[in-house]
Amino acid sequence: MIVAANWKMNPSFDTAGRLATVLDACSFNPVRRILFIPHPYLMPISERLGQSEIQLGGQDCHQDAAGAHTGDVSAAMLRDCGASIVLLGHSERRANHGEASSLIAAKARQAVAHGLDVLICLGETLGERHAGQAEQVVIDQLRMSVPDDMPQDKLMIAYEPVWAIGTGKVASLDDIAAMHDTITSELPKSQVGAAAARTPVLYGGSVNAENAAAIFALGNVHGGLVGGASLDAEAFGSICDSARAQMSKS
Ligand code: PGA
Repeated sequence: MIVAANWKMNPSFDTAGRLATVLDACSFNPVRRILFIPHPYLMPISERLGQSEIQLGGQDCHQDAAGAHTGDVSAAMLRDCGASIVLLGHSERRANHGEASSLIAAKARQAVAHGLDVLICLGETLGERHAGQAEQVVIDQLRMSVPDDMPQDKLMIAYEPVWAIGTGKVASLDDIAAMHDTITSELPKSQVGAAAARTPVLYGGSVNAENAAAIFALGNVHGGLVGGASLDAEAFGSICDSARAQMSKS
């Protein structure tokens, strides 16, 4: 089980330091915890945490190794500032920065070349779901966003229905289970190696302390990508507890 926090463009630096320290003080072993934090915070928070069970991640990287890309951040820079993983293809980047799946695949290649793990987000809009296209949209995103030569042990996927992000509306348990089954069955075709079926698939979209246990109990759900609730240490801790409880059952 993996519980990943997506802080997005939050919180203030002081609050971020305090939050990271509180989260670090609790052990949720064997749950793998990841914090995707704003890039300027990576180096100071990684120094603050030192040898921690918590993994730090960037929220994006450029598809090139270096060069004339004002305002962008390279995979090597993330790694050198304490990140071991990068979040790619979040729907806010797909929508607000026009990122296509082919670009996300190029970024993933660059990230892996610089030693980072990659968490790639997939998800349909409400319009696509109402039009009965949700499954096809997610399959297409998966096939195009994951590079053909992606090493299985570097990859994680998050299914995040766009309409569930930050809205308090969670997809139904049946819909989550069905989409995770679809993604899991598609993974071997988009990856190299027989172990492809073991790629973790997280659910994201309004995960909170109340709904996490039921979501984590579903087959083919290997944890959560948590936005709003990850800014509250108590809520995030409770979500990690649900993941740990699920691990002890299975
Ligand atoms: P949310 O965000 O938990 O606030 O819905 C999830 C995400 O965007 O990753």
